[in-house]
Amino acid sequence: MGTGSGIRTLVAAGVAIAGAIAGFLLGADINAVVVAAVAGLAAVLIAAAGESAEGLSRPEARTAPEPLGVQALIDALAGPVLVTAGTRVACANQAARALLGAHIVDQDVRIAIRHPAAAEPLIGTIDEAGSTTHLVGIGSREQRWDMRVRPLDGERRLVQLVDQTQLHAAERMRVDFVANASHELRTPLASLRGFAETLREEAGEDPQLRDRFLGIMLDETRRMQRLIDELISLSRIEAGKFQAPDAVVALDTLVREVRGAVADLHGGRGRDLNLELAEVPPIKGDRTQLSQLLHNIVGNAMAYGRPGTPVLVELEPAGDMVRLRVTDQGEGIPANHLPRLTERFYRVDAGRSRSVGGTGLGLSIVRHIVERHRGRLEIASTVGVGTTVTVLLPVSRDEPLS
Ligand SMILES: Nc1ncnc2c1ncn2[C@@H]1O[C@H](COP(=O)(O)OP(=O)(O)OP(=O)(O)O)[C@@H](O)[C@H]1O
Ligand SMILES: [Mg+2]
Repeated sequence: MGTGSGIRTLVAAGVAIAGAIAGFLLGADINAVVVAAVAGLAAVLIAAAGESAEGLSRPEARTAPEPLGVQALIDALAGPVLVTAGTRVACANQAARALLGAHIVDQDVRIAIRHPAAAEPLIGTIDEAGSTTHLVGIGSREQRWDMRVRPLDGERRLVQLVDQTQLHAAERMRVDFVANASHELRTPLASLRGFAETLREEAGEDPQLRDRFLGIMLDETRRMQRLIDELISLSRIEAGKFQAPDAVVALDTLVREVRGAVADLHGGRGRDLNLELAEVPPIKGDRTQLSQLLHNIVGNAMAYGRPGTPVLVELEPAGDMVRLRVTDQGEGIPANHLPRLTERFYRVDAGRSRSVGGTGLGLSIVRHIVERHRGRLEIASTVGVGTTVTVLLPVSRDEPLS
């Protein structure tokens, strides 16, 4: 019930009682007066109740929403945003305070965003369209930002920091990849060309020399072929990364098959391969890719382990995953190289890798296969002792293999 109708009800009740008293003073029967007073009051209360019920069903009068404050607006944005007034920071959202420090509000904006390239766009003259400046090293040394400054009203400006670190890293990876791939192809190509020219000019007459040169040329073409095959394979795996594999694969059978296939490679290292395969449930996977993964990891252990030392391949259940572990006894890998091993073309010792016909793409292919299978890859190594590569792959929830 509103205040207005409440007062009206009281006045009406007063009038009803006053009427009854007047009736009494004018000599009416006391019973009749009481009946009149009660009836009058009841009528007033019924009318008041009706009014309040009506009031309930009536829609609330519309009031325009309060305009949102600048602080509330910028707090709703995910990236760092500040509003400056002249040279001061007028307000900053949570992301900006986390990046630049909680104390930046009211500070000089050139101190808040301490970067030689930032001062001019922050407090210098600015046109309607605003400006974008690239800043490196705010937050951490590697972080890259686009600082977008737009004029608001009066002396106020909106400053937005857009994180470009990931984009930059992706772009750099693309450029590096093209450069590395070209370099890897150019080296054997230059060698092929050199030998072909020599053969045509002089060495072609000498059968022994010709044979040796042709042998080298054949090796170089094989290296190029392998590199191109691996590049195609890598791009195929990457392209299919978001499509989950759907075959049901028994890893123990696959490990035995791979052992058979690599037995004669790496100078007969196949006899050093020891399998310890516990009974494991089948996994959901892509058979060809899992075979490729095994070839790469087991191939590395055979190539980089010391000749004659055992290479152990283990398979065991691990909760709702299957754990595959390949351990060799070799020179190992220094810790600083471990995080970069799965980058394309990354080799610890490029000369050594090339001498065993390596392209530096093997572990990068392994990583992409593991990612497509929603698995995990871990590489642990102790220099002078050896390396263990562990792959965890999720168990298939489908019916077991018949
Ligand atoms: N088991 C291992 N022991 C020691 N070093 C290893 C081992 N596995 C990999 N590495 C190092 O990691 C590098 C990258 O391995 P990766 O398999 O990606 O490439 P690669 O073996 O050189 O070439 P590819 O596998 O394409 O033929 C290798 O060059 C080698 O230096
Ligand atoms: Mg390899």
